[in-house]
Amino acid sequence: MFEKSLFAQRLTGGSGIETLMEDLGHAMAEGGAGIRMLGGGNPALIPEVSACWRRRMRELLDEGARFDRMMAVYDPPKGNHRFALALAAFLQRAYGWDVGAEHIGITAGGQSAFFYLFNLLAGEFARGRRRRVLLPVVPEYIGYANQGLGADFFLGVMPEIEHTGPHAFKYRVDFARLKIGADLGAICVSRPTNPSGNVLTDAEIVHLDALAREAGGPLLIDNAYGEPFPGIVFTKIRPVWNENIILTFSLSKLGLPGTRTGIIVAHPDVIRAVTSMNTIVGLANGTIGQAIVTPLLESGEILELVRAHVRPFYERKAANARRWIAQYFDDALDYHVHASEGALFLWLWFRGLPISAAELYARLKFRGVLVVPGHFFAIGSAEAERHASECIRLSFAMDDAVVEEGIAILADEVARVYAGR
Ligand SMILES: Cc1ncc(COP(=O)(O)O)c(C=O)c1O
Repeated sequence: MFEKSLFAQRLTGGSGIETLMEDLGHAMAEGGAGIRMLGGGNPALIPEVSACWRRRMRELLDEGARFDRMMAVYDPPKGNHRFALALAAFLQRAYGWDVGAEHIGITAGGQSAFFYLFNLLAGEFARGRRRRVLLPVVPEYIGYANQGLGADFFLGVMPEIEHTGPHAFKYRVDFARLKIGADLGAICVSRPTNPSGNVLTDAEIVHLDALAREAGGPLLIDNAYGEPFPGIVFTKIRPVWNENIILTFSLSKLGLPGTRTGIIVAHPDVIRAVTSMNTIVGLANGTIGQAIVTPLLESGEILELVRAHVRPFYERKAANARRWIAQYFDDALDYHVHASEGALFLWLWFRGLPISAAELYARLKFRGVLVVPGHFFAIGSAEAERHASECIRLSFAMDDAVVEEGIAILADEVARVYAGR
């Protein structure tokens, strides 16, 4: 083949997110027979939520002119103005934030929002200076890993591990170890955290915001699972935003990943910069997710959807998965489950595992169970990589029977591994 540019080499050298999405595509889109899909982060099909999308599609079809516009007219590159007005008013009502449409920009999913934001805030700067993105709680979202267009782009920091029970633990930001240098481009966290299901406390967020502000960089909070929507959070938290915080939302985990709708709430300068990048790369955004959701924001119905259906659904799934783990795993094994405070995943740590998580992944795949091996989440930290090589992420979003069977096989395989078989 022709020679690849350095840019292409960065994006084509193989990545965890590609493995994950290939597994997901094979198991779900192609209906891979007999595979227990505890791998990727596809949201569940929740009947009441699906019914809402179908109702909204019928309404759009019946409205005629609006449907035609949605299908046949480009939105402005920044996103649909009525959607931005509806979201700004919704956030003002919900939290009293001083946001207007100028603070809101749309991208093709949260994934592309991060590509633009990371490369806006970090990488190479004038006069040979470089800036990096600090990830204060690694293991962190696998999808960030290959997005930085520069070497040494992320600085990851391993959190403290608090042992909260015989088989339970929770990550805490280790503030003593955060080195905030002059090269700080941004601090970034997902909250809830993918993969661990950790939810950073309000105090941790306030502290991180203060550190970022002091260093002259923004705090990026990835709200893909957060409040107020999709609201897959099982603890009580107070969402925060100010003009030093870049808050990203997505419609994916609400149940609309196919519409590819990412939302950025930030200072208008950030929105303008991302809009320029998005126009050059993608011209305009998909219209459908915004058209479906706009009236739900205007009426506040989106909150009912979250409170009555989305959150209880995942809370129940998380509780079931934890119960099956306690039931199928041998109590004598040195396994630990991270506190399940939100998102769609359980994060399991097998201390002293005699093989790597990548090998465990391969053995499980052979037995028809897909998970995600932990090392892919260890971004920018050798220490986190050692720890995460003893961890796996499993999704509990699929049907109960699939999740239970998958956990039973996992427990059996892990017992064999520890026993040296
Ligand atoms: C933490 C986090 N951020 C961002 C994304 C990107 O999602 P999307 O591009 O579908 O909005 C995901 C998807 O799984 C995620 O888990």
